[in-house]
Amino acid sequence: MEEPRPQPRLYRQLNEYCRSDAYPFHMPGHKRRTDAYFTADFPNPYSIDITEIDGFDNLHHAEGILRESMDWAASVYGAGRTCYLINGSTCGVQAAICAAVPRGGTILMARNSHMSAYRAAALAGLNIRYVYPLMLDDFGLQGGLLPQDVEKMLISPADSPRDGIAGGSTDGVSDWKPSAVFITSPTYDGVVSDVRGIAEVCHRHGVPLIVDEAHGAHFPFGEMFPVSALALGADIVIHSLHKTLPAFTQTALLHVRESALPGFADLERLEYALRVFQTSSPSYVLMAGIERCIEYMAGEGRREMERFAQRLAGLREDLRRMRLLRLLDRDSVGCAGVYDLDESKIVVSTRGAGNLSGAELAEILRRDYHLEMEMCGADYVTAITTLADSEEGLARLGAALSEIDERLTNAAENRATNRPNAMFAPRVALPIHEAQSRPLCPVPMEEAAGRISGEAIYLYPPGTPVVVPGEILTQEIVDTICAYRELRLPVQGLRDRTAATVRVLM
Ligand SMILES: Cc1ncc(COP(=O)(O)O)c(C=O)c1O
Repeated sequence: MEEPRPQPRLYRQLNEYCRSDAYPFHMPGHKRRTDAYFTADFPNPYSIDITEIDGFDNLHHAEGILRESMDWAASVYGAGRTCYLINGSTCGVQAAICAAVPRGGTILMARNSHMSAYRAAALAGLNIRYVYPLMLDDFGLQGGLLPQDVEKMLISPADSPRDGIAGGSTDGVSDWKPSAVFITSPTYDGVVSDVRGIAEVCHRHGVPLIVDEAHGAHFPFGEMFPVSALALGADIVIHSLHKTLPAFTQTALLHVRESALPGFADLERLEYALRVFQTSSPSYVLMAGIERCIEYMAGEGRREMERFAQRLAGLREDLRRMRLLRLLDRDSVGCAGVYDLDESKIVVSTRGAGNLSGAELAEILRRDYHLEMEMCGADYVTAITTLADSEEGLARLGAALSEIDERLTNAAENRATNRPNAMFAPRVALPIHEAQSRPLCPVPMEEAAGRISGEAIYLYPPGTPVVVPGEILTQEIVDTICAYRELRLPVQGLRDRTAATVRVLM
């Protein structure tokens, strides 16, 4: 007889963990508050979990209660159309790209886009041209995108390896002329680009602008936060409600700008693409959660955002006093394409504290203070704060970071060290979809320089690639991946989970 498998323990472990004093500086934005106004009157999920029964409409062909709900949501946002997403921003990004660019066409994409955008491009067989963010060198973080860099790519054929089109092809207008521009603003770290300037450039050249504002769902509800891309001329905007607002994981929105219809956005294609990328059994619990979140944010939540901004200002003031650890702050606005900064992201650099990596700082915060960060890079950590964060929670973060900084300052040896946080512009040998269909073989990572990668390699989070399939691995890229591996950062995308080997084209 086979040995019985061990009992499943996910929900037990979750229950235990969520009752502990571990404090979440990560998504979802409701921060597991069951005592808060926004959750107090929400029914037990089991009691409202239905399917498309009479009177409750169908998300994929909404014409009743869901249509009314989404039209109401659009009026809250000032959008022409708002669609509820229950497969996260991921499905919104994928639908927007597939609807805006014909199969086999070309897209101009910010290189620091989330992997969901790359996967959509691969699925639709697109050629990708890239526009690169500047780098905030002091922090080793990505800065913003410049409108003039977007414009350059819209008026010139592909002519450099940075461009993205395989071989830098200049044959045929249709090869290089993008049908849409896709950018991410804010970044995972809260960096906002000049979206208005980029939208003007796009419209001057007759192409729609899609903005992945997954991390900026709170922007429309607080004057102390950056202006949402929706108000700045972007044609399609995607929001992850669950990242920064009190909403269930997986809930998100796709908005279409009023005046983008029909010129810059084709609703029929979008709705078809959403049918492709969303489950055919959308959860009524999640959809009710979306509606509840927007209703709250349009009323009491807006006032809570003001109180949250005050709590946040207090935390940031404390963190500005750190001596070796350094807070990403508004003094970076105006540098490296940083047009604005979402101050709800607490990004702390360890660059001044030589021997401390981002992963080590996150570990100290977890182990000694029971504070869980959203992510860590080679030499920084990022905490997500939202209106659901209590005064006490923010104070715990402030006190922990200040104490660690004090200890580091008193320690004898502290040299500033720059660890790899690079943004590469690898030469493209083949589009992603072509590389993915070629035979691959594994080679040791250390010997992979000069080969064409058959795999995407990225840290998750943030999920922006170091390389994608079809790109040539350079020595610098290989060294960076090896360094990430040594720092025990979450290197993903490879079949070999240890990152000891990478599959390359044979
Ligand atoms: C910039 C960006 N876009 C899109 C996504 C996907 O969002 P979701 O988790 O809501 O599917 C993420 C996820 O972290 C992201 O960081």
